[in-house]
Amino acid sequence: MAKYSKNIQDYKPPSTFNKKGLPIIGIPTTAGTGSEVTHHAVIIDSKNNEKISCRGEGFVPTCAIVDYDLTLSKPRRLTIDSAIDTLTHGIEAYVSKKATLFSDRMALDTIRLVTQNIYAVDRDPKDLKAREGLMLAATLGGLAFSNASICLVHGMSRPLGSNFKVPHGLSNAMLLPTITEFSIDHAKSRYADCSRAGNFASQDDEDDIACEKLIKGLYKMNKDFDVPSMKKFGINEKNFEEKLKNMATDAEVSGAPNLNPRVPSVNEMIDLYGKAWRAF
Ligand SMILES: [Fe+2]
Repeated sequence: MAKYSKNIQDYKPPSTFNKKGLPIIGIPTTAGTGSEVTHHAVIIDSKNNEKISCRGEGFVPTCAIVDYDLTLSKPRRLTIDSAIDTLTHGIEAYVSKKATLFSDRMALDTIRLVTQNIYAVDRDPKDLKAREGLMLAATLGGLAFSNASICLVHGMSRPLGSNFKVPHGLSNAMLLPTITEFSIDHAKSRYADCSRAGNFASQDDEDDIACEKLIKGLYKMNKDFDVPSMKKFGINEKNFEEKLKNMATDAEVSGAPNLNPRVPSVNEMIDLYGKAWRAF
């Protein structure tokens, strides 16, 4: 904005902003988005009370300073939701149609680091090793999905966030088990790898078993970490039903569902929102 338009609305998607502005130094204070290494920047326009998800090369920081010390004071809900966002980046980057061997290594390490450390941080928020693991996962996850992509969970999560003010990590958590269940048969061996990397399954479990354990494990995580249902979060059911069609259409327009192993129709996305509503 210092170099180009002073109005944040001019950087709004669907257009991408690829011109380089002044150098950006990215310093994350949560272990979640990986924005310090991606071309995404979510900015709150306080004048219009709007969350804008800016995209383009112009948003890639010149330098990232990644220091887990900055996350030590973060409260439980924010810590957990950010970690589940990171886990979603790992899984989606790995199952995405744009995954490559290069992004795969980072994606699997992202999954491994989240599941190795999320319970430890929950037990002891000052566990430095675990905080470090989650921070490293967030940066790796950002690199993984920037080089592959995010898919259906993020595609459907954003409309939920913008319509009902659900924080990003939490809306991912509300959808991740249901959408994994929907997609899993279309990329069994990939999801099985995710399951083994995250220690949901053991290394010698067959793909079918590993996939079953992944779904069970994701539902269990939501329970263990008190992820609220959409209803408990405070979303009004009637309001939710009225918005379903628009949310599913917005998700489709984002393009993210097209990169999912199973590409849903708008009606299938409406069903998925409904299923996630009833899931827990
Ligand atoms: Fe995300």
